[in-house]
Amino acid sequence: MDQLLITGGHPLQGEVRISGAKNAALPILAATLLAETPSYISNVPHLHDITTMMHLLEEMGSTFVIDDHFNIEANSQNVQKFTAPYEMVKTMRASILVLGPLLARFGEAHVSLPGGCAIGARPVNLHLQGLAAMGADICVEGGYITAQAKRLQGTTLCLDVVTVTGTENLMMAATLAEGNTIIENAAREPEIIDLAIFLNRMGARIEGAGTSTLRITGVEKLYGARHRVLPDRIETGTYLIAAAMTGGKVKVNHTDASLLDAVLLKLLEAGVTLSHGNDWIEVDMQGRRLRAVDIHTAPHPGFPTDMQAQLTAMNTIAEGVGMLTESIFENRFMHVSELQRMGANIRIEGKTAIVKGIERLQAAPVMATDLRASAGLVLAGLVAEGDTLVDRIYHIDRGYERIEEKLTQLGAHIRRV
Ligand code: UD1
Repeated sequence: MDQLLITGGHPLQGEVRISGAKNAALPILAATLLAETPSYISNVPHLHDITTMMHLLEEMGSTFVIDDHFNIEANSQNVQKFTAPYEMVKTMRASILVLGPLLARFGEAHVSLPGGCAIGARPVNLHLQGLAAMGADICVEGGYITAQAKRLQGTTLCLDVVTVTGTENLMMAATLAEGNTIIENAAREPEIIDLAIFLNRMGARIEGAGTSTLRITGVEKLYGARHRVLPDRIETGTYLIAAAMTGGKVKVNHTDASLLDAVLLKLLEAGVTLSHGNDWIEVDMQGRRLRAVDIHTAPHPGFPTDMQAQLTAMNTIAEGVGMLTESIFENRFMHVSELQRMGANIRIEGKTAIVKGIERLQAAPVMATDLRASAGLVLAGLVAEGDTLVDRIYHIDRGYERIEEKLTQLGAHIRRV
């Protein structure tokens, strides 16, 4: 099993190119199931989760042509199977995103129920309730969701909790439903906007993406479209924090500062010098020490839960005390005990981690438990004294494209062993 070996203490310098957003590319690939003709998707990150999604769609009969730059032509003309098997869903919860498209286009879907995962229970009840309200017959048996509907019917939905993939599933389902669907309390993440842009290019009629009310007028058929996936705001934030923690100067390219306002504001509060242009953001720390900051995770435009572990790592070496409150997932502090093994001073009280910054972390062997927790551990390794060995890095390969290559390019001492 691959591990990352990081020798800490080298300030990052230089430029790094940000990949397309995993969390936009996944629903966009699922959405190609809705189209009668091929779609062309560019800026797709080459990640395990993306290949898992393509394998899942291939099992159903979709075909893909991929060029040297990982631009993808996806063809779902001949889809004949409507099943997402347990073996695939258990490795990637986002497989649930095929449910809405399959049901809307083919009137049938069998999707394994995703279980819990390292960061919490993560139910899909709101996906199912929404589809049922649109007229689907839904039965959960033997660990599988079976959904059937002659044609989904537009209706008004109000989501009890803001859910990202729930909003995406229901939005995709509504594109081919009969009549109008309104989704209230919809998620407002940039990835939802990107998916809506793609769906509208396919012929869908969606208004309000990026607000909490989506209005969708159902159409009879959708056709393939061209789309360039938006930049990954979580990867962007992770490299900015890496630069800030190591006291370096890094320009992060092919990104968009407007995607991560909440994160940039926190970095400014922490004393980071930031500048940005159209498609770049630069951090210049000039060797200064960071100040600890408080965060409270919330749905977009609040502070993203997917950046919480990285901020926790940042606070471990900052001046002062920072309080990090996790309000989205109940068990997202798995990185804390690993950071403690590196000497971090962290106390957990309920949903809050209280971090008192120390001068320097000490290297230790640590274990990644989920995708973003592993990013937090890599950041800690970059500043720790000595050699940090991060185990189980398959988690990080799910969401960070060529992380060791990009960090090496910035002067980090990191290698896969
Ligand atoms: C998505 C992101 C993930 C991110 C998360 C929160 C993708 C592929 N993944 O995950 O990286 O961490 O948003 O920003 O885009 N909930 C319910 N019932 C449901 C659905 C969700 O109670 O039917 C709850 C969840 O348990 C959680 C909260 O709603 O507490 C938000 O979860 P949700 O937005 O659905 O997360 P995902 O879409 O799975």
